[in-house]
Amino acid sequence: MRVRAFAPGRVNLIGDHTDYSGGYVLPMAVHLGTTVEGVRGGDEVHLVSDQESEDAVIALTEDEPQGVEPAWARYVAGVVAEIRPRKGFRGRVRSTVPVGAGLSSSAALELAVAGALGFPGPPLDLARACQRAEQRASGVPCGIMDQLTSAAGRAGHALLIDCSTCSIRPIARPEGADIVAVHSGQSRRVAGSAYAERKADCDRAARFVGPLRDATRADLTQIPDPRTRHRARHVITENERVLAFAQAWADGDMVVAGELMDVSHASLRDDFEVSSPVLDSLVDRLRQTPGVFGARLTGAGFGGCAVALTEPGALSEGWHLEAADGARVVEEG
Ligand code: GLA
Repeated sequence: MRVRAFAPGRVNLIGDHTDYSGGYVLPMAVHLGTTVEGVRGGDEVHLVSDQESEDAVIALTEDEPQGVEPAWARYVAGVVAEIRPRKGFRGRVRSTVPVGAGLSSSAALELAVAGALGFPGPPLDLARACQRAEQRASGVPCGIMDQLTSAAGRAGHALLIDCSTCSIRPIARPEGADIVAVHSGQSRRVAGSAYAERKADCDRAARFVGPLRDATRADLTQIPDPRTRHRARHVITENERVLAFAQAWADGDMVVAGELMDVSHASLRDDFEVSSPVLDSLVDRLRQTPGVFGARLTGAGFGGCAVALTEPGALSEGWHLEAADGARVVEEG
């Protein structure tokens, strides 16, 4: 039987570094994605990739994804280690998601591999298995946003996700606005250690004020050291911005939505310190372009893309993103 599994990348419109403390995010699955196509059988997973010179060859008993070479094969190994398929797979990977751009190429790969290997569960289970696969492959304690968006995307909609319950509210994309991802030129290696440090800062803040998702600005005075206080301030105010953005979108108010994106970027830059000079100048340039409502870094930061909300046709550069359906599998013959 031939199997073809597809999983989309994602762009996050607003709500970064909020998922791993149970906050709100507002991403959408995009039309760029990863396809894994081939045949099930055998006792290893062997994948050739269009974009990589070396194949991924993973035994079904693989248990140490982080030690696997080449590096891209670690994500395949993470999925194998998590879902323990009974049969192997032989096939090829094609992707239109740019790697290292902050558009979740790794989540798209994980979900497409899991689909190809026959993962049986509903989207939330698929997302959780692939989140664990990503953590095992990369050592980065990532949240659920990327995998859940790729699993549960809906054409024409962004997803308002409450990461404490993983409940999802699709919000129709308003007419009359473009969503454009523009690469900063700086490859985003999720500086694993910096990401883990940010998460540790949030965990530390929660020891003073309780779960950040339920904390308020007034609670910030209980956090003694400035760095932890600033991290918490980002998360608390970003959660507010996500909900305000969802409302602005529902009202079709692109001016307010764009302003919230601008403030989000400033908060990620100043309070959470995950931007970079290259990203800051890209965001400034985009914002000064006529017809741009707002712009911000998207995803983990440390390089990669900025996302801009614009009047139709305002930007000729970058990826003009459509909101797409989530991961799917076609089995033939
Ligand atoms: C990465 C992680 C996500 C999320 C973002 C930042 O993409 O995989 O879980 O934390 O960074 O919002």
